[in-house]
Amino acid sequence: MEIVAADLDVATARALLAWQIELGADEAIGEAPVNRYEVPAEVQEPAPAAAVAPVVAAADDPVKAATAAAQAATSLAALAEAQAAYDLCDLKKGARNFVFADGNAQARVMIIGEAPGRDEDIEGRPFVGRAGQLLDRMFAAIGLARGAADAGAALYITNVMPWRPPSNRDPEPAEIAMMLPFLARHVALANPGLIVLMGNVPCAAALGRRGILRLRGQWCEAFGRPAMPMAHPAYLLRNPAAKREAWADLLDIKARLRELP
Ligand code: URA
Repeated sequence: MEIVAADLDVATARALLAWQIELGADEAIGEAPVNRYEVPAEVQEPAPAAAVAPVVAAADDPVKAATAAAQAATSLAALAEAQAAYDLCDLKKGARNFVFADGNAQARVMIIGEAPGRDEDIEGRPFVGRAGQLLDRMFAAIGLARGAADAGAALYITNVMPWRPPSNRDPEPAEIAMMLPFLARHVALANPGLIVLMGNVPCAAALGRRGILRLRGQWCEAFGRPAMPMAHPAYLLRNPAAKREAWADLLDIKARLRELP
């Protein structure tokens, strides 16, 4: 069905646009078809082979390129800059914002989530939507907050993916693999005492395993430090009965923090 703009009132047009953005169609395209295979008349001579070779090599191996970029970063600011400049992950093209981290980077607890959703993509900060608000309340219940200045009471929060996947789909294994070197470097530079793996995607990235409902509540090791897999707050919003187990996991984290130096 063709919709003619003149037929729409403002509220309907706005609702249609919001719906399209929610589906991931957030880029305007032209009305006239474009032949992208056509060679423009003023096409340039190809650059000499030696000049293009390194670019081709990096594009051939996105994980190698990510590893080199991440390893070269010696501070969190440099890492954020290097990751934001990484062009080999297609998710970057569809995202509004690069979402790196939030909270106190000195915190003993580092939370690793999955990927930005719509609200995070708009704000450029992780966990700011409904799931993020629940996450804040959950950790407040054990005395931890992302805004805390004291490292002992603070949280540092990031995601496996810094760019929102279209329609909030799960990141693909190849996309996770490209971001893993950045995540490993992120953990090494932030140097938390323990990690919380929020949901399946961080478990897949850090442990090579999925099945959060089986993994949750059991201490494991990720990036060389103690890690607790937990059910994602978005899951808890859909399944309030699972909050009881999440509370047990939070108490376990609180107890473990007492043992940390
Ligand atoms: N879910 C996540 O895993 N991360 C966010 O930043 C938001 C929602």
